Amino acid sequence: MTGPARVESPRSARLAALAIGALIAIVLGFAAMRVMIDWPNILAGTTPDDDFAMRYVEHPWLAYLHIAPGVVYLIGAPLQLSRRFRTRHYQFHRRFGRVLLVCALVTGVFALLFGVPHAWGGAPEAAATVLFGSWFLLSLVLAYRAIRRGAVAQHRRWMIRAFAVGVGIGTIRIWVGIFVGIEQMLSGGASPSTPSPTTFGVAFWLAFTMHVAIGEWWLRRTPVLTG
Ligand code: HEM
Repeated sequence: MTGPARVESPRSARLAALAIGALIAIVLGFAAMRVMIDWPNILAGTTPDDDFAMRYVEHPWLAYLHIAPGVVYLIGAPLQLSRRFRTRHYQFHRRFGRVLLVCALVTGVFALLFGVPHAWGGAPEAAATVLFGSWFLLSLVLAYRAIRRGAVAQHRRWMIRAFAVGVGIGTIRIWVGIFVGIEQMLSGGASPSTPSPTTFGVAFWLAFTMHVAIGEWWLRRTPVLTG
């Protein structure tokens, strides 16, 4: 590393925290929507009308072994990434970190198991899932290996990389919303509110690429251990 290490200003750290909070809220909203649509059907053994939901109802184990641990990881990770919390509750950080790591690994593996064969967005979504899902899993494994050998700075870097991908799920939904809105505007409200497969595939690539890039940018801005 060359030149003096910059510490992130409180203002941009606050902005980042706000953006992350909003993205997590979006993911939680969609996870809750899935539960409300899927579970009455799963429990009653019925099939939902729309094809989008049908995949979740027909493959509940694959889908919910992806969604449930993912939600736990996404809610818990910001606490782990907060320097203030880490330094004050280091033992908790270590124990909770193991739980969240397992959750993240399970969600990543089931993203591949559900998202590749049953992708709504077809091949483009499946390809994005393989690429960014593997990057997510690799980052987690390298973060774990780094902390096992006491390399704290490397551990932080790989955990931030994994989180950047994980929180990208919220940005996918923002892109999907924008595209569905445009489609509806152009068709005078005649196009369906369910996203088209193309929309989904494009949204996956846009959001994950943005998030990997933002993660790397953030790491360059804050090469030292900051909040
Ligand atoms: C880290 C926390 C994660 C959470 C909380 C999460 C949550 C969700 C939710 C709620 C859905 C349902 C889709 C919706 O209704 O919007 C979903 C689907 C999906 N997720 Fe994740 N996810 C996470 C990470 C990932 C990662 C890292 C990948 C892979 C790069 C991934 C790939 C997928 C795929 C492929 C689907 C299926 C989309 C479809 O075709 O319907 N997820 N996830």
